[in-house]
Amino acid sequence: MKIALDGPSGAGKSTVAKALAKELGIIYVDTGALYRTIGLYVKRKGLDKSDTEGVISSLPEISLNMEFKDGEQVITLNGERVGDNIRTGEIAMYASAVSAIPQVRAFLLNTQRDIAAKNSVVMDGRDIGTVILPDAEVKVFMVASPEARARRRFLELSAKGENCTFESVLADIIERDKNDSTRKTAPCVPASDAVIFDNSDYDVEGSVKKVIEIIKSKVSI
Ligand code: DC
Repeated sequence: MKIALDGPSGAGKSTVAKALAKELGIIYVDTGALYRTIGLYVKRKGLDKSDTEGVISSLPEISLNMEFKDGEQVITLNGERVGDNIRTGEIAMYASAVSAIPQVRAFLLNTQRDIAAKNSVVMDGRDIGTVILPDAEVKVFMVASPEARARRRFLELSAKGENCTFESVLADIIERDKNDSTRKTAPCVPASDAVIFDNSDYDVEGSVKKVIEIIKSKVSI
């Protein structure tokens, strides 16, 4: 079974996807982590995130591997586990910038398709239902207001000790939304056969319940 869970940053996809994977006994694939890993490499190399040519010419230097250990996704970048190094606000902005480059998307395509070819997955991203797994049995596009998403992200980053304000997180979300939804290649838009779910007024438990209802309306689980 393939479940595509797309939507903008901070819509709660990863929280819902993790709970679904547990409930259904399938693998949770966080595809944003792949773009973040390219962002991490580019930043460490000292490139500007808008240096498209520099990013493209760096791709042959990158060996990226994604595996699952006890159900946990583990990404290695040239042999080093990336861990939480990809979870900062700065790397999110690098990820957003590099993800607009078609060559970067092509570079990461097979890694994502191979995992879904070998396993039942709930895959969280932006273009899973439109590009990566157009034949997914279930496609959900999760949205929430920018304020609701910024509130969640702000709490998450503050809990990790990152120095940020609600306003700066909201501004970053608005900028990332613009980048991600207006880029030419694989923009963050719902597939024509996706179910759109606005979870602004749902808590985690309610969101998971709702997505399970959507899945049950499409396939027998
Ligand atoms: O889901 P995330 O916040 O970890 O994603 C980081 C960035 O990567 C996001 O700004 C858009 C991009 N991305 C993408 O273009 N396609 C995906 N399938 C997943 C993420």
